Amino acid sequence: MIKGQELLRMQGITKSFPGVKALDNVQLSVKAGSVHALMGENGAGKSTLMKCLFGIYHKDAGHIFLEGKEVNFSNSREALDNGVAMVHQELNQALKRNVMDNIWLGRYPRMKGLPLVSEKQMYEDTMRVFNELDIHVDPRTVMSKMPVSQRQMVEIGKAVSFNSKIIVLDEPTSSLTEEEVEHLFRIINMLRDRGCGIIYISHKMDEILRISDEVTIMRDGQYITTRPAAELTKAEIIRLMVGREMTNQFPPKLQNPYTEDIMRVQGLTAQYSQLSDVSFSLKKGEILGVAGLDGSGRTELLENIFGAATRRSGMIYKDGKPVRNRTPRESIANGFALVTEERRATGIFGILNIQENTVIASLKKYLSGILLQSKKMSAATDSMIKAMAIKTPSQKTKIQSLSGGNQQKVIFGRWMLTEPDILLLDEPTRGIDVGAKYEIYQLIQNLARQGKSVIMVSSEMPELLGVCSRILVMSGGRLAGEVDADNTTQEEIMTLAAMYV
Ligand SMILES: Nc1ncnc2c1ncn2[C@@H]1O[C@H](COP(=O)(O)OP(=O)(O)OP(=O)(O)O)[C@@H](O)[C@H]1O
Ligand SMILES: [Mg+2]
Repeated sequence: MIKGQELLRMQGITKSFPGVKALDNVQLSVKAGSVHALMGENGAGKSTLMKCLFGIYHKDAGHIFLEGKEVNFSNSREALDNGVAMVHQELNQALKRNVMDNIWLGRYPRMKGLPLVSEKQMYEDTMRVFNELDIHVDPRTVMSKMPVSQRQMVEIGKAVSFNSKIIVLDEPTSSLTEEEVEHLFRIINMLRDRGCGIIYISHKMDEILRISDEVTIMRDGQYITTRPAAELTKAEIIRLMVGREMTNQFPPKLQNPYTEDIMRVQGLTAQYSQLSDVSFSLKKGEILGVAGLDGSGRTELLENIFGAATRRSGMIYKDGKPVRNRTPRESIANGFALVTEERRATGIFGILNIQENTVIASLKKYLSGILLQSKKMSAATDSMIKAMAIKTPSQKTKIQSLSGGNQQKVIFGRWMLTEPDILLLDEPTRGIDVGAKYEIYQLIQNLARQGKSVIMVSSEMPELLGVCSRILVMSGGRLAGEVDADNTTQEEIMTLAAMYV
């Protein structure tokens, strides 16, 4: 592989699914020793293009050349054997098996002259890959025992273990902590130095501008342009992706007319995490932000309020009365809802269609006697599809066939429809494109206008500043401070976030 030489060329790629033209005459050219970002809104066709390369989907038309030679992989195994690896947006691992099984599945090392798998060899091979990449995971750990972020690293290790020339990373950082992202970037740089071509898909603009050499932009299944990353700005990328100028990232801020507290939390301390002695109050109609570094206890705070994690001590008052919220079920009955950050992993009923996935948490609203009113359900689903611009041929489409970001929007809509008094949101816009983010902010504001209250955890500081009234800052499991979103700076928040680290 000679650096700078064209490694991969895809041209005229076209692919239709029933009711959607997912790709229309798309091209992509990736050079050896470079990171090539692929960008576009949810449903633009990024994952589909990569699945055509990888042999998961069969393209309807077009040509793919690897180092000048035309290839047409009919399955992912063939792609891997020819030096093309892919880390998928939706991890598809054998969770009951251990790490090394997952890496070597289908190509187990054999014992010399025997039809037996050499566990020892497999262990050593895995350790060799992990050491090279500085991944600290025991190859014998069962997958289901590890957090999603570590499973992601295993998947990356697997891609490297094939000695691939082309490595596709489809939203690799959506479940990684900041430290893990840095680690991943070191790995990517190492692979680039070796002459690999890395195709990097992400909605995180800062990451793209930092790590990539070139950027290809897609919109609605079409190829728009390819530019050197150094020539692009965030605003320019947004314009190219959305197809119009987007001057405002946030809708105008809400002026909250309500004055009374709806909830008060006192001395909340978790049993199994470092969350300790957190007290604050939430006003009716308020959008309250929660900032903090990874691991500062933001998610734990929401889980403890919602009864999804065990409390050791502390009280929660709603409308002045103590509520117990010991289990999610009890919390839902008390008017709470929690939208988790791992929406895709925890919330999707893959074989159900979009309507079923949307209404499933608010079914009692559509009951008349013992019958479900289908008109009402389809009206509610329609309103969510419109409100969030969910890209789908119909309500009856299986949720599995939606793009990753659109699946997330459906799950988000599901919880919006339960019309909770208190909505707890963990990273509500993760994996969601810029245009759709705006829609989600508006939905959150609409709830607040109706007197509902929202607590929103986010790692994106501009988002907290742009949408919330007040921001709580967590640090080392404790509440380090509270700031007024209109009279603070990112620096002030960062200083608070570092207080107990
Ligand atoms: N297996 C499938 N069956 C039917 N439609 C599909 C299938 N896979 C993808 N699509 C459709 O093709 C279009 C492109 O989807 P794709 O997953 O490539 O988008 P994406 O750019 O990766 O979006 P995201 O950023 O949300 O992941 C979408 O409209 C999607 O619904
Ligand atoms: Mg995708």
